[in-house]
Amino acid sequence: MKGIELRSDTFTLPTDEMIDAIVQAHRQGRLGDDVAGEDEVVNELQDKAARILGKEAALLVTSGTQGNVISLLTQARPGEEVVVERMSHTFLFEGGAMSSLGGLFPKPVEGVRGYITPETLESVISPDNPHYARTAMVVIENTHNYAGGVIVRPEQMDALARVAHDHDMKIHCDGARLFNAAVALDITASRLVREIDSVQICLSKGLSAPVGSLVAGTEEFIHDAHRVRKRLGGGMRQAGIIAAPGIIALEKMVDRLREDHQNAQTFYRELSGLDGLIIERPETNILFIRLDNFKIDAAGLAAELKKRGVLVYGEYGERVRFVFNRMVSAEDTMYAAGAVREILEKAGKNS
Ligand SMILES: Cc1ncc(COP(=O)(O)O)c(C=O)c1O
Repeated sequence: MKGIELRSDTFTLPTDEMIDAIVQAHRQGRLGDDVAGEDEVVNELQDKAARILGKEAALLVTSGTQGNVISLLTQARPGEEVVVERMSHTFLFEGGAMSSLGGLFPKPVEGVRGYITPETLESVISPDNPHYARTAMVVIENTHNYAGGVIVRPEQMDALARVAHDHDMKIHCDGARLFNAAVALDITASRLVREIDSVQICLSKGLSAPVGSLVAGTEEFIHDAHRVRKRLGGGMRQAGIIAAPGIIALEKMVDRLREDHQNAQTFYRELSGLDGLIIERPETNILFIRLDNFKIDAAGLAAELKKRGVLVYGEYGERVRFVFNRMVSAEDTMYAAGAVREILEKAGKNS
């Protein structure tokens, strides 16, 4: 037994239908050289993604990180700055890509539960003065991972875009989990990114495809993004073997994200009454607990959970993250909640 996988939704395995789709794409002669634009399956996926996101065009990329980096390098020039939320993926977890690969200068700001308010953005845009780097872009993460799968509402997206556009800036959405936000709000993903210039979505998280992300925007943006993707070594040949599961991901796996959200709610309900536990009601599939009041830290809880067959990352200090996903059933959820309760009760509270 591998265990109940709550480390990340990136651990989701492809479905049988996804694997069949790869074989079918090959049998039907639909694979081709995508660098030459001749893989029919990739073209179908890109058209589908563009339609779903309400954008003119889309491009398949290898990963969420690559999609974010391509979007930034395509729309900002070396020496320009990009406003990012202090705990965002683009700032913290992409190996410094925007500066090392693109000469871009990240300007981190404090968000409100992950959201950069329009007022904050307004206050950090550099004056048009040669002493300063030009503020070229802002990145908004939706849902925001580190804040706990928090949703940025469409009106919040629009408001931030308005400030960016008023200052001749571009706005990029890191939508690694954009569909979680859309499903939770019961709105389309395209509504969320209506005023956004470029968006990146991941196929390989809750949507369960094995590999791949897409970036979407105007025809012109995608035309230029092609060159940056090539420069980064992201031009793939018979990429239809990635696109085929990606099509199933977009067609069949979006709605079922609701199950992950329900499991996160169940987990919250099971543990919210536990004396001393700091826990926030989840909005989507990610939930953090804080252990400040207990005689055990995150690494200790992760180690104890592992002994009981429950896998979580333990390197968040006093915080432990639980990410609900297709590999975790309602029954698993109850079991995991029971295990957390048992361990914390046994560890006891700080006096
Ligand atoms: C919010 C967010 N953005 C981007 C990424 C990067 O995706 P990838 O791991 O495919 O590079 C992740 C990955 O977990 C993420 O959580």
